[in-house]
Amino acid sequence: MGNITLELSAYNKDELTALEHSLVQQYERFKQAGLKLDLTRGKPGADQLALSNALDGILGGDFKAGDGTDVRNYGGLDGLPETKAFAASVLGVKPEEILVGGNSSLMLMYQYVQFCHTMGAKGAGTAWQTEGTAKFICLVPGYDRHFTVCENLGIAMLTVPMTATGPDMEKVEALLRADPMIKGIWCVPKYSNPSGEVYSDETVQRMAALGNIAGRHFRIMWDNAYAVHDLDGHPPVLANLMDACRAQGTQDSLFITGSTSKITFAGAGISFAATSEDNLKHLKKWLSAVTIGPDKVNQLRHARFLKNSEDLQAHMRKHAALIKPKFDLVQQHLSSLDGKGMGTWTTPRGGYFASFDTLPGLAKTVVKLADEAGVKLTPAGATFPYGKDPEDKNIRIAPTFPALAEIDQAMQVFVTCVALASVQQRLAKL
Ligand SMILES: Cc1ncc(COP(=O)(O)O)c(C=O)c1O
Repeated sequence: MGNITLELSAYNKDELTALEHSLVQQYERFKQAGLKLDLTRGKPGADQLALSNALDGILGGDFKAGDGTDVRNYGGLDGLPETKAFAASVLGVKPEEILVGGNSSLMLMYQYVQFCHTMGAKGAGTAWQTEGTAKFICLVPGYDRHFTVCENLGIAMLTVPMTATGPDMEKVEALLRADPMIKGIWCVPKYSNPSGEVYSDETVQRMAALGNIAGRHFRIMWDNAYAVHDLDGHPPVLANLMDACRAQGTQDSLFITGSTSKITFAGAGISFAATSEDNLKHLKKWLSAVTIGPDKVNQLRHARFLKNSEDLQAHMRKHAALIKPKFDLVQQHLSSLDGKGMGTWTTPRGGYFASFDTLPGLAKTVVKLADEAGVKLTPAGATFPYGKDPEDKNIRIAPTFPALAEIDQAMQVFVTCVALASVQQRLAKL
């Protein structure tokens, strides 16, 4: 990379050939090093998980919740009062609007979309599938597992670009006006997966109005997975969509989710959903046919471990201390591409990902080059429905799991692959 000091377009053919030569040499050196690195895993590192080890044994034989419930027994379909209060404070809603689930918010999302699709959010006669093929708006780049939910349930997907302030709302509103079969939209409003953007206040206000543009059974799937996952001390504030919906009378259009997967244990946390009390009434009726109740023992463990918002904030600061250096290191390496015209990237202030756009047509090449040099990247296209990125340019970077030294090596390989692919593409065009 050292030799490239100017914007790619400033070089003539001979200069580019010389640059290619030195990049190939550098790349071959990486290949010979026999690296085995992985930037695909959007999960906490073992040091982060260890921050919550006190969950183990925290109950010390006292299985009584605040209201006297014996958490070892059946029941409590929507959660313990203390867990609902915790979830309500994380999601910014009232405890009466909360349902606490098992260890996965993705499962709550799947269940709710399936419920609306096949059973009906408001009971008999309201199922989306009775009207024809339901469609969802998917923001791109976005979270692959949201797209898989739709694919799995036979729900068609329409893409709308993400911008620095959230979804392109003009496009979202125009689609909804034109097509009553659009029944939902997936959103990760804070530290979006993968771009890390936070929706602006104006975007949140416009989201609240969607329930008045779309039909009665349209749902905003507001996946607030990174609600408290800030990296810096003065984090951006996401406006409260539930309050905005209440002001516009559209609270039925909103289904919020969150979990402690990246607060405590990713595989053994608690998940929660929030929606209008009327929606919740219908959902709970259906859920009572699915389960007698969730794991309240784990709920109580979490309530004892994170007793109040000060505990939670202090705990999240410990996470930030472990992962911010990793995000910073990614940015430090990417900054070697500054002003070179070889791609653009995001600088998230929280969450679990950064997003890199190569020059159009090069994401797959970069991923392949990196793979052959021993660095696994998320497959190109994964951030688009059906795995198809029409411009073949987006790559998701997940820096939380590997050690700092591994990120350092992996990012050197990454920027070299980006530079090599970009120089070769330019040469091919000359
Ligand atoms: C945006 C988003 N939502 C949900 C999840 C999964 O959440 P959970 O572990 O609660 O199922 C992830 C995991 O990476 C995510 O990035």
